[in-house]
Amino acid sequence: MLQQAFDGEVFRRQGHQLVDRLADYLQQALRRGDFPVMPGAGPKALRQEWRQLLADPGPASFADLVEKVLQQSIHLHHPRNCGHQVAPPAPITALAELLSAFLNNSMAVFEVGPAGTAIEKAVLGWLALRLGMDLDADGILTSGGSLGNLTGLLAARRERGGSSSWEEGARSGPPLAVMVSEESHYSVARALKIMGLGSRGLIKLPVNDRLQVRPESLAPSLRAARAEGSQVIAIVANACSTSTGAYDPLPEIAEFAKKNGLWLHADAAHGGAALFSPKYRHLVQGLDRADSLVIDFHKMMLCPALATAVLFRDGRVLDRIFSQKAGYLLPDGLQSPWQDIARNTIECTKKMMGLKVMLLLKTVGEGVFAEYVTRAYDLSRDFAAVLGEEVDFHLAVEPQANIVCFRHQPGAMPAGQWGEYNARLRRRLVGQGRFYIVQTAIAGETYLRLTLMNPFTSLDDLQELLAEIRRCGRWVLDHQGQE
Ligand SMILES: Cc1ncc(COP(=O)(O)O)c(C=O)c1O
Repeated sequence: MLQQAFDGEVFRRQGHQLVDRLADYLQQALRRGDFPVMPGAGPKALRQEWRQLLADPGPASFADLVEKVLQQSIHLHHPRNCGHQVAPPAPITALAELLSAFLNNSMAVFEVGPAGTAIEKAVLGWLALRLGMDLDADGILTSGGSLGNLTGLLAARRERGGSSSWEEGARSGPPLAVMVSEESHYSVARALKIMGLGSRGLIKLPVNDRLQVRPESLAPSLRAARAEGSQVIAIVANACSTSTGAYDPLPEIAEFAKKNGLWLHADAAHGGAALFSPKYRHLVQGLDRADSLVIDFHKMMLCPALATAVLFRDGRVLDRIFSQKAGYLLPDGLQSPWQDIARNTIECTKKMMGLKVMLLLKTVGEGVFAEYVTRAYDLSRDFAAVLGEEVDFHLAVEPQANIVCFRHQPGAMPAGQWGEYNARLRRRLVGQGRFYIVQTAIAGETYLRLTLMNPFTSLDDLQELLAEIRRCGRWVLDHQGQE
């Protein structure tokens, strides 16, 4: 069997088969192929199917397995997928993943990932330059925005909370706290809890009607926290928020942070890529003033999961966040251990994350990001304008990014029922399979939510979506109590 598992000719055959199938799939999806955007089978049925398949002692054919996975997956390359913030990967980036997976260079130290390490540093340097950061900036790639936020906040604690927490535990010294937009991604609150700051360690900053942090709330929030005995170490700003795509006022927040000796961490996991668009770059003005920031390549930069850049304005902090002894991997005494990346990351082994970005940049070109972001952000504004003209639709908030939140409000229905009605019509719509959209809560109210991630989604698709929403709404009203 080992011989079979490593047979080069089998690999060649299966590889060609897979790439051919995926190329067909891509073309079909982009043509809005006649298959559901979202598979119909629910979790129980799918679990049962795969359990049974595994329990069956016989082998299965490679082609059949590929087909099954394709059928049961959500199709991100289909322009009518407008659900969560996951990129439809540019095909070259998937090939990079294959190369990375095959070589499996584990990246912890230079010796077990020479090319991957150098590529990672090159990609980070390029991104820092594009952000307008100076040469002191440096960073790491990590497995997702959640770990990226944790890494940035660990740096904040190390730099503003005193070095003792790392050695002596979270309970040494006064309680630490971080000021966070109430619209922040949950991973920020989770990171603070992982760090031992607890619920008290998270000070929520109020937002305005565009769901951006109110700069005038910063000073009173800081005063109140200090009066309660907390040592505030940092502010987390969104660029942009997950739920509605709101960009916080970074220049004002950066100024406040500087004046008060606070660390500024910017969560630009989704919206940082706006920096590539000449038209929308203004949205991230001030991002280069953050002490730490995260940008996900697997959101608005056309890469598959996972790859997150964590950049530090002063890269020297990297040497201080994690200090760990591991004689078998990280020997003492190196003067400049930048090349042994595990010193500075939560992960030990990790994928060659920079490779997909490098291949995209060098085979397609950087301009792809400008075109992508501009198109997606333009479409959200065009769609918002369409919604504004429809009397039975209500836009929750003017979109700043490529996230649009709205709901259907048929006139005959009491306002108190709109949320539940939209949640039900969304279930129906997703079940029909022609579109995939999600929902969110804004000030406790349920809204439909679109993230326009697919560069080939058109305004015609979205007009068709509105017609489908109306059809599903009628169905919901006709089947009250029968779902
Ligand atoms: C603003 C923001 N930050 C962080 C995250 C978490 O990123 P990941 O899913 O890569 O862990 C998300 C995910 O949607 C996000 O939108």
